[in-house]
Amino acid sequence: DMPPPRFETIRRAGKCFLAASGREWGGQVRDLSLIVPGENVRARSTWREVSCWTGFCHCVKTCKVAEMSVKGSFQDADKVRELAKKCDILTLEVEHVNAEVLEELHQQGVPIQPLPFVVKLIQDKYVQKVHLQKHGVPLPDFEKVETEADLHSIGEKFGYPMMLKSRYGAYDGKGNAVVPNAQGITAAFEKLGGKAGKKLYVEKWAPFKMELAVMVARGVDETMNVTMRTYPVVHTVQRDSVCFTCLTPPVGVTQKQQELAQKIATDAIKSFGDARGIFGVEMFLLEDGSVLLNEIAPRPHNTGHYTMEACGVDQFEQHLRCVLGLPLGDCQLRVGGAMMVNILGQGETPEMVTKTMAPLRRALLVPDAGIHWYGKDGCAKGRKMGHITVTGFTPASALEEIRPVLVAVDGDDA
Ligand code: ADP
Ligand code: NA
Ligand code: MG
Repeated sequence: DMPPPRFETIRRAGKCFLAASGREWGGQVRDLSLIVPGENVRARSTWREVSCWTGFCHCVKTCKVAEMSVKGSFQDADKVRELAKKCDILTLEVEHVNAEVLEELHQQGVPIQPLPFVVKLIQDKYVQKVHLQKHGVPLPDFEKVETEADLHSIGEKFGYPMMLKSRYGAYDGKGNAVVPNAQGITAAFEKLGGKAGKKLYVEKWAPFKMELAVMVARGVDETMNVTMRTYPVVHTVQRDSVCFTCLTPPVGVTQKQQELAQKIATDAIKSFGDARGIFGVEMFLLEDGSVLLNEIAPRPHNTGHYTMEACGVDQFEQHLRCVLGLPLGDCQLRVGGAMMVNILGQGETPEMVTKTMAPLRRALLVPDAGIHWYGKDGCAKGRKMGHITVTGFTPASALEEIRPVLVAVDGDDA
């Protein structure tokens, strides 16, 4: 077993645009030489940390913790080119970036991982599904939608409800609309901008028993042969299509079903050829024990946050190891079980911010709680503001320990 690489190791391996800032290592903030002195790195969150890695920033505060950053949109080709000049390798924390310029840079020899072609095909959820289907990955039935009339004929085939989805730019359920019946077609089509020409596709309803997710790490060894490691399966519960909790190991999922989910996830990532990085794979477990893939994220993922407290090497460090060509770290659970809950903003008023933070205060009383507050500006309703992971000897004990925190999430309204 290798010791975890110190930040210096990673830095020596190459200055990449994501190597920066206040990561927490085993609960302790180590000496990270890229941090601007005076910053309270302990308060930095996962996503803030990743934002710093990318060098892109949406807010001034983020700039302060990165060694270097290029201020601007990751859709802006010139900004991406400018950033590429300052980096040894480019990677990303969000897939909704300008993939054309990534392809252009890659052709010019700029190392980029995951490979731009993968970013591009994942960006278009429909193309992603066509690709996965071609590689034999089990999926809900799906079809391209050009006109509202298409939905009527597909509805007859798929039955209702079905899930209408935006092909581009979707996250946290924002690109989805349930079509409950034929009468609901117009409303769903309009909601997603179908009338205005937005590209859509539709999926057959997946009558899932639960949603599962697996993080898959794909790196290379010294001889540049692909190496892969798979994290444990989590049971993820969405609220209003936003990830709410993740529990691992999942309760009520057989070993065989977990192995099936891990196999489907790794098979899917293998279809991406030489692409490296960490990938979040969302899946549906059906009543009959079969598993369908829902979607893939080419980056650290919300369903992998628990790895910070629960696994040998967490998803963020693992991503660095993957893209930098370092040996992969241990994915296995170091605890018997772990549960994560997302903390979503309740509103912008001071009162609402206090309410939003109530579960964090409650979590301070839980012995094995990892508390992450992202320090974002604002506290808009539904915005991801932080997360808490509680570990235990078993998933049941993690669940028991986190219960008061979940109660605090719902506050007095529960
Ligand atoms: P997002 O990019 O917003 O996460 P997803 O495609 O993952 O979009 O959909 C969000 C959630 O909607 C899923 O986690 C799941 O709960 C539900 N969902 C998505 N597709 C289907 C489907 N075909 N059948 C039933 N529920 C679905
Ligand atoms: Na998504
Ligand atoms: Mg999703």
